[in-house]
Amino acid sequence: KDNVAVGLLGVGVVGSGVINLIEKHQEKLAHQLGCGVHVKSALVRNLDKQRDTGADMNGTMLTTDPDAVLGDPEIDVVVEVMGGIDEAREVILKAFKAKKHVVTANKDLVALHGGELHEAAERNKCDFYYEASVAGGIPILRGITDGFASDHIEQLMGIVNGTTNYIMTKMNQEGLSYEAALQEAQERGFAEADPASDVEGLDAARKMAILARLAFSTYIDLEDVEVTGIKDIDIADLQYSDSLGFTMKLIGFANFDGTQVEVNVQPVLISKQHPLADVKNEYNAVYVYGEAIGEAMFYGAGAGSMPTASAVISDVVTVIKNMHRGVTGGQFVEPRFKKRLKSDEQ
Ligand code: NDP
Ligand code: HSE
Repeated sequence: KDNVAVGLLGVGVVGSGVINLIEKHQEKLAHQLGCGVHVKSALVRNLDKQRDTGADMNGTMLTTDPDAVLGDPEIDVVVEVMGGIDEAREVILKAFKAKKHVVTANKDLVALHGGELHEAAERNKCDFYYEASVAGGIPILRGITDGFASDHIEQLMGIVNGTTNYIMTKMNQEGLSYEAALQEAQERGFAEADPASDVEGLDAARKMAILARLAFSTYIDLEDVEVTGIKDIDIADLQYSDSLGFTMKLIGFANFDGTQVEVNVQPVLISKQHPLADVKNEYNAVYVYGEAIGEAMFYGAGAGSMPTASAVISDVVTVIKNMHRGVTGGQFVEPRFKKRLKSDEQ
């Protein structure tokens, strides 16, 4: 094809970034792919809403009818950035049935229904990628699968929620109240539609479940992740920790000792000497310990329109390259190990 048509589901914080970046980097994309890429149509809830995509929307048709996107035979790739669980699951399953490749940023959905969606993708010979679902713009999923293909990852530890890191940084360094810091994170597009999932640690738990599955080749359910959020933390806790030489961070931790897996998310005191203590605002960082590489750390913007859109488009590029090669793929590691949780034995 001279020009691959993408169908976008959602033109919010992430979807606007996708339209913007695809338009801005037409030339680079064409150079890499040997064809053009354009967003042909996009699903929204409200057609009258003012949209600031930073790009020309003339070429993209907005619709409130999912079938206008999913039923369009010209569209090969569907990008789901509408969020939520049930409706998003339904449209993605429909997209696979219509033989369309799918890219999503939706960690809630992947953490809960990843297995089912992978099966549907495989059954229909479609691609299914979700790089943006963990740590925004950081290519962490490719990093721990392709990058550590011959290594044995023993441990992952990191800051995988931008909103809570933003709130804790602002409370600690600028004395902002929890409410004011959360409002800023919402205004900057970092928080989830319901920010409870950020501050209660659920968003980080979903990301840790996805990371642990891919890193350890074992199927981790969301319920297997022990979670404590940041709601009960106040400025005094943060500033007292600071005075003792520690920074409090919401840390996701996953460990696999060869037989047992442990995954949790909780506020942790980190020594100021540790590189994770320096990760501020919406930035994320994931520390990986692999048998061969030893220590490695991935760092970058973990939320926001452009960083997340960049990860989404990296998946779109992979899908188009797969189309050209006549292969299908996805972010999936066939489980090699039967799940054995450390908590089951306590
Ligand atoms: P927004 O709320 O900003 O945007 C959602 C978009 O989807 C809107 O355009 C909305 O339409 C549309 N939409 C939602 N539900 C429906 C529906 N039922 N039918 C039609 N259109 C619908 O969300 P974000 O862009 O922030 O997030 C999108 C996804 O990306 C989520 O899964 C989120 O977890 C994930 N994500 C977000 C990041 C971020 O930094 N924001 C980072 C990484 C992942 P309308 O505009 O008309 O309301
Ligand atoms: N709400 C999420 C966060 C968005 O703050 O990290 C990125 O996944």
